[in-house]
Amino acid sequence: MPVTALVSAKSAGVTTSALALALSSGRPTTLAECDPAGGTIRSGLLQNQVGAGYGLYHLAQAERVGPDALANAFAAHLWPLDGDGHRQLLPGLTDPAQAAALGRTWPALSQIMRVLADQAGQDVFIDAGRLALDAGRLHPTLTPAPLLHQADLVLLVVRGTDQSLTLARYLVEPLRIELAEHGSGLDALGLLLIESGPYRAHQVAESLKVPVMAALPFDAESATYLTQGGPQPRRWARSPLLQHARTAARQLEAVAARLQTQRQYAPEPASTQLAGVLERLNHQRRGGGGPRG
Ligand SMILES: Nc1ncnc2c1ncn2[C@@H]1O[C@H](COP(=O)(O)OP(=O)(O)OP(=O)(O)O)[C@@H](O)[C@H]1O
Ligand SMILES: [Mg+2]
Repeated sequence: MPVTALVSAKSAGVTTSALALALSSGRPTTLAECDPAGGTIRSGLLQNQVGAGYGLYHLAQAERVGPDALANAFAAHLWPLDGDGHRQLLPGLTDPAQAAALGRTWPALSQIMRVLADQAGQDVFIDAGRLALDAGRLHPTLTPAPLLHQADLVLLVVRGTDQSLTLARYLVEPLRIELAEHGSGLDALGLLLIESGPYRAHQVAESLKVPVMAALPFDAESATYLTQGGPQPRRWARSPLLQHARTAARQLEAVAARLQTQRQYAPEPASTQLAGVLERLNHQRRGGGGPRG
């Protein structure tokens, strides 16, 4: 199943969308709140039921002990998001200053996400927060770049407004470079459109030159519940946000499956040496010294 990372330029709806996608998934699901600026689900949807003794920060210490300790700590720090525990949350940082400690934990954590998706058949969603740049590249500690590298899909969350598109524009190139050099490739980058503002999906895609892989409606009541918690809205399961999130999750899965197949059958890049041999054979065939009959 896919690992999907969500990022934004600024407050476009990453956390709300990640929650909606996780809660609407029909499969066992893990949502990892890895925003280096700090998590908001603990004090929002979960209304402070989860103490500071739980969550992402504690994995940094475990990673220093070793891979087994990290895997055990990861499992021990998950919090159920629903009654039957099929959907689980790794709560985020309680203090942005904790992000520095996680710099060396991201790569090992990204391996765990892959195991959950590939071997445990889980849907994995990562709230990777707002992207911070450093000299045109992703910031090495203030962005969990290794999580993006290992993701099947990296979704830049945008709204159909000038403000949102203006800020998102500056992230497209750094993300492209990052995914081309270290990640699963340029095709992994897509947009998740929150349908507010004057621009439709095709205009947003055209404007940023990135495909819209899924869209979610502007649904203030559902979003406020996911952001702040409190009483669940009436007919919650049938709310526009959850219903569209179900469709979006299916679309994302289909895109990820297609990309995985493409990667499987993509020709291996020829080594320089092999390319040289190929070139000489072609030269001979063109009449430059092949066998004569
Ligand atoms: N689909 C939606 N419909 C209506 N409002 C939404 C939607 N998604 C998010 N919002 C609202 O937009 C605001 C920002 O959402 P959210 O916190 O999810 O964004 P974020 O990208 O995680 O922000 P940050 O970068 O600050 O972490 C919240 O008030 C939330 O309720
Ligand atoms: Mg957020």
